[in-house]
Amino acid sequence: MPLPNRAMRLMMLVVVGLLAVNTASAQEKPATMPSPLGAVSSCKACHPQHYQDWEQSYHSKTVVAMHAGFKKYITTQEEAKGRPLNRNELMACLGCHAPAMRFASDADFSRVAQLVKTDQREALAGLSVDCIACHSLYASGHPETKPPQGLDRQTYYGTIQNPAKSPHPTKHAPEMAKSEFCKGCHTYVTPAEMKVNADWDIVCSLTYDNWAEGPVGVRATGANKKECQTCHMEKQDGKAAITGPARKISSHRFPGWHDPAMLKKATELSVAATPKGNGAQLVVTMVNNAGHRIPDT
Ligand code: HEC
Ligand code: HEC
Ligand code: HEC
Ligand code: HEC
Ligand code: HEC
Repeated sequence: MPLPNRAMRLMMLVVVGLLAVNTASAQEKPATMPSPLGAVSSCKACHPQHYQDWEQSYHSKTVVAMHAGFKKYITTQEEAKGRPLNRNELMACLGCHAPAMRFASDADFSRVAQLVKTDQREALAGLSVDCIACHSLYASGHPETKPPQGLDRQTYYGTIQNPAKSPHPTKHAPEMAKSEFCKGCHTYVTPAEMKVNADWDIVCSLTYDNWAEGPVGVRATGANKKECQTCHMEKQDGKAAITGPARKISSHRFPGWHDPAMLKKATELSVAATPKGNGAQLVVTMVNNAGHRIPDT
């Protein structure tokens, strides 16, 4: 093979130089991993209230907030297996923490694992339990079915009976107002289709299970029954979309143990003293106002 001429050698040098520059900057700040079904920031234009609430909620941080646990899972499992984890093994966590990842490529899964292992939280911030995870995937009852490509072509399930005209299809789903909707992720069993040969059961949230057994759960009737949405998605006056009519809307802040006001609401402490002998008998009563055991797991 003849040696390349001078011009070509120069070009090769320039190309090598560019590559070096690119990897250097990539090491400083890797590109963010986009959600495979698209970024929900486009919903903000018409649903500003829901978007702002959700952005403040822990549902918008479900991958970033589990970072330490996720990293430990990946590193210990890789060590035990002597190979990188495959998509099913990573979906064992992402199935609830970033459901849209189900539709990602194998290369995307390797990238996510790499970003977790190198603590690149910022690059992972686009993965979460977002509008699409709840209103398109879980609400359809078939989170494993890929919705049509394009955010305005997906059907969004919701609890509005007669929605105003919208640029995307909608479907009335009254079951979204019930606790069973939250069960998909807030229960102890790993969903069957994401079972892996891990040597432990994944126990993240038991709130559905102890709500169901508790005094406001499935056996309660009438006003005694309180759905998860009663306490975690309070109704308020507002607009479901800027071009729609005024209605009662549901808070999307999902307050929980990170919220001081919610924690205060959780328990009531009262002390009653009755004289007894030389002293007094103290009765301390602690009432649990949450619909489930506190703290959770
Ligand atoms: C069945 C659904 C489900 C699966 C599967 C699941 N999680 Fe979770 N995870 C949750 C829910 C719901 C919470 C919130 C619990 C709470 O706030 O009380 C949570 C919370 C967490 C937290 C605490 C986050 C914080 O803010 O402190 C960590 C860490 C975590 N999960 C890691 C994992 C890892 C690692 C896996 C895979 C091995 C996994 N999860 C699989 C549903 C799930
Ligand atoms: C150009 C404006 C526009 C955009 C963008 C938009 N929507 Fe909507 N959406 C509407 C309107 C209008 C309604 C009906 C509101 C009403 O009746 O009060 C609606 C209703 C809904 C409902 C309620 C459906 C029901 O039957 O209860 C959901 C859920 C929803 N949108 C989700 C989304 C999501 C998720 C996105 C982003 C991927 C999005 N929307 C983007 C305008 C928009
Ligand atoms: C697609 C899965 C999924 C669904 C569906 C879901 N959640 Fe969650 N939820 C999560 C995960 C994952 C977390 C953990 C957030 C974190 O990492 O701290 C969480 C956290 C929470 C928290 C804790 C907030 C905090 O301060 O830590 C509350 C409260 C909550 N969810 C309520 C609900 C309610 C109510 C529903 C039903 C209307 C629901 N969730 C449906 C996955 C889900
Ligand atoms: C009667 C009101 C009420 C009902 C009903 C209720 N919750 Fe809660 N929940 C609370 C309060 C108050 C807290 C804060 C106390 C705490 O986190 O320890 C809380 C905390 C939580 C947390 C954070 C738990 C932790 O300590 O890690 C999650 C997750 C949650 N709820 C999910 C649910 C789900 C899912 C349902 C339905 C199956 C539900 N809740 C039903 C009032 C309620
Ligand atoms: C954790 C699941 C979850 C996430 C994430 C979520 N929603 Fe919802 N959303 C619900 C549920 C459940 C209802 C119905 C509550 C009810 O009727 O009690 C609802 C109701 C709605 C409605 C109907 C009006 C209302 O407020 O009741 C609109 C519009 C909506 N959501 C838009 C959005 C948008 C936009 C996003 C993203 C920024 C989003 N939602 C994220 C679960 C979710």
